[in-house]
Amino acid sequence: MYISQIIDLGSKALKEKKIKSHMLDAELILSEILKISREKILVSSDKKLKDTHVLSFNKLLKRRLHSEPIAYILKRKEFFSKNFYVNKNTLIPRPDTELLVEKILKVYKKKNPYILDIGTGSGCIILSLLQNIENSRGVGIDISKKALDLAKKNAQKMKLNKKCKFVHKPIEKIYGYKFDLIVSNPPYIPVYQIKNLSKDIKQFEPRNALEGGNDGLDVIKKVIYKSTTILKKNGLLAIEIGNEQYKKVLQILNLYGFRNRFLIKDYQKNIRCLISVLK
Ligand SMILES: C[S@@+](CC[C@H](N)C(=O)[O-])C[C@H]1O[C@@H](n2cnc3c(N)ncnc32)[C@H](O)[C@@H]1O
Repeated sequence: MYISQIIDLGSKALKEKKIKSHMLDAELILSEILKISREKILVSSDKKLKDTHVLSFNKLLKRRLHSEPIAYILKRKEFFSKNFYVNKNTLIPRPDTELLVEKILKVYKKKNPYILDIGTGSGCIILSLLQNIENSRGVGIDISKKALDLAKKNAQKMKLNKKCKFVHKPIEKIYGYKFDLIVSNPPYIPVYQIKNLSKDIKQFEPRNALEGGNDGLDVIKKVIYKSTTILKKNGLLAIEIGNEQYKKVLQILNLYGFRNRFLIKDYQKNIRCLISVLK
């Protein structure tokens, strides 16, 4: 079988399953198997494939046909121009979260900050910040030990393991620190909305990375409440939130002594992140 044929067959099969990125996914799977870039695949369409390659392609294609996200199949996801290892224990980093990192980097001017990332998952937020803020140090916490193992692997790959510590603890159990900046993309989907998520999310991404209790605000409230004691005065708290949650979250922030400074909209124009100062 030739490269062009297998891409066509794979893409058609994925299209039948209503997978929008059918062509791209077929190309990405093949480039993973052949260990060459997608661009190289496109210019080698008349190259004949070995049987072992065809078998491996079909194996990965089958996983995608069962709705497994392409990031889990490839074991990586690009975030803020770096490839992060991901697996079924971590949320797949989202482009909307890059907007939060981008804004923090724009507005954060303090020197040598000590940063906490609550619910670090793959470590994508804290590692992107540490990579781009000089003399910064950080801690990433998570309730998932397996997610932290992967975050450590990402830190090592990015040579940030000396700047970042990963701690296996829930936010409720963090005491005795004072951070300059706290960031968090907590689970914020209300339980009743989980059933409406697409199959690739609800069947494959970890439930404790998605579900935020009855109204979606359980972990957000804990993050805000805890930040009052572990954030320095005038420190920044940057949180990602769910659709339609911003009014309630702004009220909670006010109640706990924060003043909101920035609202960040996502690519669908929903308010997705809030950056506030502790008064
Ligand atoms: C939405 S994911 C975010 C992952 C990553 N920061 C990102 O943006 O891609 C939320 C993470 O919070 C973790 N988590 C849930 N409840 C927590 C808690 N009480 N304390 C600390 N982490 C928690 C989950 O295990 C999950 O890894």
